[in-house]
Parts: sequence; structure tokens; C-alpha cells
Amino acid sequence: MIEGVTVRALTGADLEAALDGVAALRIAVFRDWPYLYDGSLDYEREYLQTYRDSPGALLVGAFHGDRLVGASTSTPMEDHAEAFAGPLKQIGLPVERILYGAESVLLPAYRGQGLGHRFFDLREDHARKLGRTHVAFCSVKRPDDHPMRPTHFRTNDAFWTGRGYRPLEGVFAEFGWKDVGDSAESVKPLQFWMREL
Ligand SMILES: CC(C)(COP(=O)(O)OP(=O)(O)OC[C@H]1O[C@@H](n2cnc3c(N)ncnc32)[C@H](O)[C@@H]1OP(=O)(O)O)[C@@H](O)C(=O)NCCC(=O)NCCS
Repeated sequence: MIEGVTVRALTGADLEAALDGVAALRIAVFRDWPYLYDGSLDYEREYLQTYRDSPGALLVGAFHGDRLVGASTSTPMEDHAEAFAGPLKQIGLPVERILYGAESVLLPAYRGQGLGHRFFDLREDHARKLGRTHVAFCSVKRPDDHPMRPTHFRTNDAFWTGRGYRPLEGVFAEFGWKDVGDSAESVKPLQFWMREL
């Protein structure tokens, strides 16, 4: 682990104080494949409001000194946008049993040293504390022939599978944002992954 990096689980006012940093990280990290998010502070303000409104929200922050260099968010499933909780209703598990893991974003210089595992450890601890039995998250699905698909790209699938998560067959959310190079928002399919704790 890089010296001087600490990981903290934040809720309430501490979480709120870090949200501008989360917006900056999302805009920087999600610009890359496969997210291609052409981010704006207006979009972020609206999107991140969920974490202010949800008393069960968690933000795991990686700090280098005082600077937020990575973040991983979660909310009770029913508190996240209906676009996410809605499709999960089809699996027959009450959404109140599920913690939704939203973004995990870490600046490239800090990757590959176990911070991603710490993010998941603390997220899963939080789920247990809330009495949740499952953790779910989504992964954007891009067409095989997408013009911006890189020739070599390491997906997170091995990481997620190693942590016990599996894709939920045929369960997708649809969510919109503006892609890099586009002039308007478009809706993308997001594959649900889930594990029982
Ligand atoms: C996903 C992300 C947060 C993971 O953080 P990280 O600190 O790099 O992850 P870790 O170092 O804990 O490694 C987790 C796993 O990733 C894989 N991994 C990490 N670095 C790797 C590398 N250089 N080569 C191959 N696999 C690697 C391994 O499977 C590893 O698990 P293992 O150590 O048990 O084998 C980070 O890569 C990131 O921000 N990526 C871009 C945004 C993103 O895709 N977010 C997820 C969806 S919201």
C-alpha cells in the first residue's frame, strides 16, 4: 500500500463533506472505457443527491493525506434510483434484503495494491450491519463492435467473481449519461451482479 494512504468508512456529515471529491473522481475515472462518461458537475449534483438523502448510505474513501484518491459508495437498494431497484424486483428477493454497491473509483496510480478489496470488505461489513443478506452492483455492457472498445482491456470480472459475485442472468438496469464524443445523453444497459453474504 502506498505510504500515507488511509481508508475510512464515512456516513452522515462526513460522507456529505466528501461528495465533491467523489464527483471529481467519477468524472476523471469514468471517462475511460467502458464507461466513457463525459461528466459534468450538474449531472453529478443530481446523481449524488441519493447519498445525502439515504440515511443508510456509505462512502468508503481512500485518502492520500487529505486528498480523496478513491471512493466506493453504497446505499440500501430501495434508496437508489428506481431505474436500479425496479429490475431487481423480478428476481423475487425483497429489495430490502439488498445493499446496492454503486461506484468504485480509484485513481490509476493507486490501483493494484488491494484498495479495491478494502472497498468491498467495508461495503460488505456495512451491509451486514444493516442486516442485509445480499450485495448487488451493476456493470455497463457495451456492444462487441463498439468503435471505442480497446484492443486490450482488463475487465473486473475476475475480481468480482473471486469475491463471490455472479451476473444475474437477464437482469439489467437501464441508465443514461452522455458519452465522450456525443452531444446528448444515451441510455445504456447495465448488468446486475450479486452475492449472498
Ligand atoms: C475497480 C477498482 C476500484 C479496483 O481497485 P484496485 O485497488 O486496483 O483493486 P485491488 O488492488 O484490490 O485488486 C482487486 C483485483 O483486481 C485485479 N487486479 C488488480 N490489479 C491487477 C493487475 N495489474 N492486473 C490484473 N489484475 C489486477 C485482481 O483480480 C485483483 O484481485 P486479486 O488480488 O485477488 O487477484 C479500480 O481498478 C478502478 O477504479 N477501476 C476503474 C473504475 C471501475 O472499473 N470501477 C468498477 C465499477 S464501478
